[in-house]
Amino acid sequence: MKPTTNITFSSLFLALLIIASINMSFCSGSTYVSCLESEREALLKFKQDLKDPSNRLVSWNISDGDCCKWAGVICHNTTGHVLQLLLGNPYEMSKLGGKINSSLLEIKHLNYLDLSGNNFEGIEIPKFLGSMGKLRYLNLSRAGFAGMIPHQIGNLSNLQYLDLNWNFGNYAETLSWLSSLSSLNHIDLTGVNLDKVSDWLLAINSLPSLKVLKLAICQLHYFPSLSVSSDNLSSLTTVDLSRNQLGTSVMPWVFGLSDHLVFLDLSLNNFQGPIPRGLGNLTSLRYLDLSANYFNSTIPEWFFSRFRGLEFLSLWSNLLQGPFSSSVGNLTSIQTLDLSFNNLEGEIPTSFGRLCKLRSVFLSHTNMNQEISEILNIFSTCILDGLEVLDMTECQLFGHLTDQIRRLKNLKAFFLSNNFISGPVPLSLGQLSSLESVNLSNNTLFGSLFEIHFAKLSKLKYFDVSQNSLTLNVSPDWIPPFQLKELNLESCNLVGNRFPSWLLSQKSLLDLDISNSRIQDTIPDEFWESSSQLYSLNFSNNRIEGEIPNLSKATHLQYLDLSSNNFYGPLPPVSSNELYGIDLSNNYFSGSIFQILCHRLKESKELEILYLGENILSGEIPDCWMNFQSLKVLNLGNNNFTGNLPLSMGTLSSLQSLHLQKNTLFGKIPESFKNCTQLLALNIADNQFSGNVPAWIGESF
Ligand SMILES: *[C@@H]1O[C@H](CO)[C@@H](O)[C@H](O)[C@H]1NC(C)=O
Ligand SMILES: *[C@@H]1O[C@H](CO)[C@@H](O)[C@H](O)[C@H]1NC(C)=O
Ligand SMILES: *[C@@H]1O[C@H](CO)[C@@H](O)[C@H](O)[C@H]1NC(C)=O
Ligand SMILES: *[C@@H]1O[C@H](CO)[C@@H](O)[C@H](O)[C@H]1NC(C)=O
Ligand SMILES: *[C@@H]1O[C@H](CO)[C@@H](O)[C@H](O)[C@H]1NC(C)=O
Ligand SMILES: *[C@@H]1O[C@H](CO)[C@@H](O)[C@H](O)[C@H]1NC(C)=O
Ligand SMILES: *[C@@H]1O[C@H](CO)[C@@H](O)[C@H](O)[C@H]1NC(C)=O
Ligand SMILES: *[C@@H]1O[C@H](CO)[C@@H](O)[C@H](O)[C@H]1NC(C)=O
Ligand SMILES: *[C@@H]1O[C@H](CO)[C@@H](O)[C@H](O)[C@H]1NC(C)=O
Ligand SMILES: *[C@@H]1O[C@H](CO)[C@@H](O)[C@H](O)[C@H]1NC(C)=O
Ligand SMILES: *[C@@H]1O[C@H](CO)[C@@H](O)[C@H](O)[C@H]1NC(C)=O
Ligand SMILES: *[C@@H]1O[C@H](CO)[C@@H](O)[C@H](O)[C@H]1NC(C)=O
Repeated sequence: MKPTTNITFSSLFLALLIIASINMSFCSGSTYVSCLESEREALLKFKQDLKDPSNRLVSWNISDGDCCKWAGVICHNTTGHVLQLLLGNPYEMSKLGGKINSSLLEIKHLNYLDLSGNNFEGIEIPKFLGSMGKLRYLNLSRAGFAGMIPHQIGNLSNLQYLDLNWNFGNYAETLSWLSSLSSLNHIDLTGVNLDKVSDWLLAINSLPSLKVLKLAICQLHYFPSLSVSSDNLSSLTTVDLSRNQLGTSVMPWVFGLSDHLVFLDLSLNNFQGPIPRGLGNLTSLRYLDLSANYFNSTIPEWFFSRFRGLEFLSLWSNLLQGPFSSSVGNLTSIQTLDLSFNNLEGEIPTSFGRLCKLRSVFLSHTNMNQEISEILNIFSTCILDGLEVLDMTECQLFGHLTDQIRRLKNLKAFFLSNNFISGPVPLSLGQLSSLESVNLSNNTLFGSLFEIHFAKLSKLKYFDVSQNSLTLNVSPDWIPPFQLKELNLESCNLVGNRFPSWLLSQKSLLDLDISNSRIQDTIPDEFWESSSQLYSLNFSNNRIEGEIPNLSKATHLQYLDLSSNNFYGPLPPVSSNELYGIDLSNNYFSGSIFQILCHRLKESKELEILYLGENILSGEIPDCWMNFQSLKVLNLGNNNFTGNLPLSMGTLSSLQSLHLQKNTLFGKIPESFKNCTQLLALNIADNQFSGNVPAWIGESF
């Protein structure tokens, strides 16, 4: 017994060994083919003409002879022919550039060429691409090509995908060459200038396999009204003609597209009049965007019965009228609904509650005139739990927020500003752990916001409860669960009238407004030290004291408003070149304005508004106005300035309003002021100017 078992066992082992070695020889032998020498040479020539600053093609090196192993090269697994070049660049960095060498023609079997996302700095699309007859996929999108699209592309009879998206330098004068691309399945010419092309529709219509058509931002300015049948386009599923000027009415060509059409984007054209009935033939639509046109009918009843499959609907920014039809409840597949900025009015009907798949609702600037609690009730059937975006800004909503909001567990954006919602904010707000953006500003909310209102809001980035009667009642050493980018507490009452020192925990703040919030305190140095990322800062209308340190580290600062406080000391040096508004008026700032004005004299400034009035600033007004070409409003009134007006003020060619009253300025108004031709308001009262008011003042302004 024993020996037999042994023999059986070892022969089994032998058999396994043989099988294993057969497999080995398959791997190392017959299936492994290295690339062809001629194709390797061609690739190296191609590389030589490219610019590759980040060395993406470092592996393309003669010392590794098998080009099938090079980055982005894909070969046939038995013949070794190069089939695909995947040189698209999804990253902003590492762009290829330079020239495209015609050595590519040596790669006879290439069927897939992706050069998207690189930067060829305005060179033309090479004509020789038209001779690469095996190409099935050509992606040159976002690659910086310019010039006329070579009609030779029309020779690529196997081409299925042609993507020239986002090459704004490209143009065409005819698309007739497209007609011969009988295999074409996907064409994207978004951004290509087709201003002069009159045959686009004719060319498109002859492409029997076309599934995806994208001609957005092509400067198409008319819809050829040929009586083209759309019979040839029975495969078309996607049409994007957005952002053109396609005339006033949608052409019947669209209505005739077969009922396979799933995606239609006609946004941002000049379409007018009623929503055309013919659209109702496109009953397979899942995505429909008619936004930013001038459609002015009601939303027709057939809309709701024909488009039951619709998942995305945007009618944003039209002139649509009338009440919400109760048939809206029949759009039961809808996930995103945007009806904002229309003349719609009336209450949301109860049937709305049947839209259980809704994720995003945009209804802002519609005149609903409805109680917010009633809307939450309607939504409570099945909508609340899945909702991610709720935008009902300026909808004439009133009443109280109810505890129903507790169910908005997936809500990321909650926008109810500019309504008449009153009462306290429910504590359950603090349980909505998905929240990223909240805007409840300009309502009539009152009561307190406690730490518990923010308990689980760890993702919160934007929070605006300004212009209510709310009190923020949190402890000074509160450590909030969030890192905000934008905070607006304008007109809130900060309990204790102290600077909210929990703000020191917020390291990513870009935009901070705590104006008019009864602060009677100083700003901790630590705040200023960690404020270098700020874009906008508004502390106005409080009673904050102290000196402002050097703000030159805040290099992105665009807007600084510290007006109407009790700040004193010298003006803070600021050095952001992006500043467009500074308001330091109505404080006790003293000394010269030289620092703030004459800093980096040679660089041009974006500043449009400079209010320094009602301080005790003194000295002469420096002659440093040469680079303030954007300055529109300048107020230095109610200070202690003296001396002559500097000549360079005459270079303020955008100046509309100049206030210099109540200083001790003297001398004459310089002739150069003639150049301030935009000036509408000038106040120089209560100074010691001499001479007559020059006659040209009446003429120039
Ligand atoms: C392609 O590259 C070869 C070798 O680097 C060069 O001689 C030739 O001039 C290039 N062709 C073009 C059209 O630039
Ligand atoms: C090829 O690789 C070798 C060794 O890595 C290197 O010395 C050489 O410069 C490379 N040649 C090119 C053309 O990149
Ligand atoms: C070779 O390529 C063909 C077609 O692309 C594929 O079906 C096959 O699995 C590949 N063979 C190997 C061994 O990778
Ligand atoms: C072309 O490449 C870009 C990425 O660079 C990609 O987003 C796009 O889908 C590609 N086009 C086609 C038709 O595959
Ligand atoms: C390529 O197209 C041009 C013009 O469209 C034509 O004259 C030429 O014969 C075509 N070449 C091939 C190989 O089809
Ligand atoms: C349909 O396409 C064929 C070529 O594929 C073309 O000859 C015919 O004119 C097209 N029909 C219409 C109505 O454009
Ligand atoms: C809608 O727009 C069309 C075209 O601009 C205009 O003739 C018509 O009077 C408008 N209708 C309404 C109800 O505003
Ligand atoms: C809608 O489709 C029907 C049937 O296919 C057709 O008779 C009608 O002309 C189409 N309507 C429009 C406006 O194209
Ligand atoms: C909407 O659906 C209801 C039943 O769900 C139906 O009675 C009504 O006719 C439909 N409205 C339209 C306009 O299709
Ligand atoms: C506040 O809301 C009211 C009502 O919607 C609106 O008229 C007003 O313009 C809003 N104020 C601000 C500053 O947005
Ligand atoms: C205004 O300036 C004059 C000298 O120019 C100085 O004597 C006076 O004290 C200043 N007044 C104030 C309030 O700073
Ligand atoms: C005023 O404008 C004229 C003509 O534009 C120009 O020659 C002159 O230098 C300007 N004066 C000042 C002070 O900028």
